[in-house]
Amino acid sequence: MKRFMLVALFIYSIGISYAQSVWNEKTEGDLSKDDMDIVVYRSPTCGCCGKWLAHLNAHGFDVTDNIIDDVQEIKNQHGVISSLASCHTAIVNGYVVEGHVPAGDIKTMLQNKDNIKGVAVPGMVAGTPGMEVGDQRLPFKVIAFDASGQLKVYKNYNKY
Ligand code: CU
Ligand code: CU
Repeated sequence: MKRFMLVALFIYSIGISYAQSVWNEKTEGDLSKDDMDIVVYRSPTCGCCGKWLAHLNAHGFDVTDNIIDDVQEIKNQHGVISSLASCHTAIVNGYVVEGHVPAGDIKTMLQNKDNIKGVAVPGMVAGTPGMEVGDQRLPFKVIAFDASGQLKVYKNYNKY
């Protein structure tokens, strides 16, 4: 009986760790309060945007939420080309953050003061923060872009 209880507890704990999103893991970053101010622009019809905002909040960002009708105009203003575009656009400390970028990568960019215009996760990839769909975790890349339109892979999430 005792052994049965232990096995049951073991299976239960596996279940919990599996259900918990990888994006809940604590992220590091020695950033000032100003660095953590992020202004988000999103359309009223986007549900996953709200979940990404919650992800940012959970990782210590101070989110200003702007619900606007024309998100495309913001993207145009900030040089987010169509191949990078996603549902929402955010500005943090002069950088552009497009789409469901993990909070940890935003912190890395801020901490390193990378010489880029911003980072993007194009499209809407199942498994990214705010886009959790059951246990689906599709591979995705965080793309860094600069003012001249040069793109490079900032972080590759093949497995997570
Ligand atoms: Cu989205
Ligand atoms: Cu969104």
